[in-house]
Amino acid sequence: MKILVTGGAGFIGGNFCHYMVDKYPDYDIVVLDALTYAGNMETLKPIINKSNFKFVKGDITDRLLVYKLFETECFSVVINFAAESHVDRSIENPEVFLKTNILGTQVLMDASLKFGVKRYHQVSTDEVYGDLPLDRIDLLFTEETPIHTSSPYSASKASADLLVQAYYRTFGLPMSISRCSNNYGPYHFPEKLIPLMIKNALAYQPLPVYGKGENVRDWLHVFDHCTAIDLIIHKGRIGEVYNIGGHNERTNIEVVKTILRELNKPESLIKYVSDRKGHDLRYAIDPSKIELQLGWKPKFNFESGISQTITWYLNNQEWVNNIISGEYQRFMEFNYK
Ligand code: NAD
Ligand code: TYD
Repeated sequence: MKILVTGGAGFIGGNFCHYMVDKYPDYDIVVLDALTYAGNMETLKPIINKSNFKFVKGDITDRLLVYKLFETECFSVVINFAAESHVDRSIENPEVFLKTNILGTQVLMDASLKFGVKRYHQVSTDEVYGDLPLDRIDLLFTEETPIHTSSPYSASKASADLLVQAYYRTFGLPMSISRCSNNYGPYHFPEKLIPLMIKNALAYQPLPVYGKGENVRDWLHVFDHCTAIDLIIHKGRIGEVYNIGGHNERTNIEVVKTILRELNKPESLIKYVSDRKGHDLRYAIDPSKIELQLGWKPKFNFESGISQTITWYLNNQEWVNNIISGEYQRFMEFNYK
């Protein structure tokens, strides 16, 4: 089996490549990645020389390049991780989110149809469902929850999901979609909550918490996201959506305090800052469908996962230092000014 992994130099795509290259030595894994600020060859260093792995630099919106790649490689499976993924950046400048997340998805689907791909899998997010109230812990997102987005990021991901469903119904694209909750784990770019807080705590710098820190996210270790996608591409039904989540809801302030405790750093480092515009209150996934239909079960709970993640960052501070570019500094100054 030859699998195209777009966005494989990013956080989740990179972890997925590590997982697949090890688990399936007889599969060929090809990454297509534009190496934006979020994509890093350092993440692929441990597998770059493996015989069943190949890296191609390129943009998923570049139709000529994508068609040429599909023609040469004859993929049986395409998994689209490539995206602009940071909500705060989508508030600063939505345009590239529309280009990559919507038009890029269209190019990949056109290529999949043209070159006879057996399965096109779209990696989506629970953010397409909008948010849930803080005082209704009985409510969870199911696959039937209506799409109702808040940020340019989530709107672009929802647009892509709708297009993927339209390509299934209109053109018979053999697709599946997964909608996962917030991920954390190794190789996570330090602009997102968990890696940013670990990085700042280690440097005794302020930990910026938006608003009152009461917003809730449902955290899943990236390894468990990878096992879920592995199951879906092998056994998931064509045309279906699968929610992925492990019932690990935490308020942001709980997450930040857990990190400080694990690193033995003082809570005085916490700094409450202006809230994010349109900030979603709570995400919470009902994963019953993937559990019952495909037998998926997460390996990590939040406690074991966060401790594994912190240990990884402690042992890999060089990875963080190597990927922080001038562009990272520019965005940090803009966002937290
Ligand atoms: P990321 O920002 O870490 O990585 C994105 C990767 O895509 C980078 O390597 C980047 O270089 C590449 N890329 C961006 N634009 C591209 C383009 N035009 N052409 C080719 N490559 C391009 O993102 P992530 O956190 O790894 O997320 C991966 C996917 O999972 C995204 O689709 C995201 O929406 C989804 N998702 C993320 C989370 C989360 O918590 N991070 C949760 C659920 C779903
Ligand atoms: P983030 O990691 O950006 O993921 P998402 O917005 O996609 O859920 O943020 C997770 C939560 O943490 C979210 O409620 C916003 C909050 N947050 C902060 O409080 N401070 C920060 O510096 C960042 C980046 C996020």
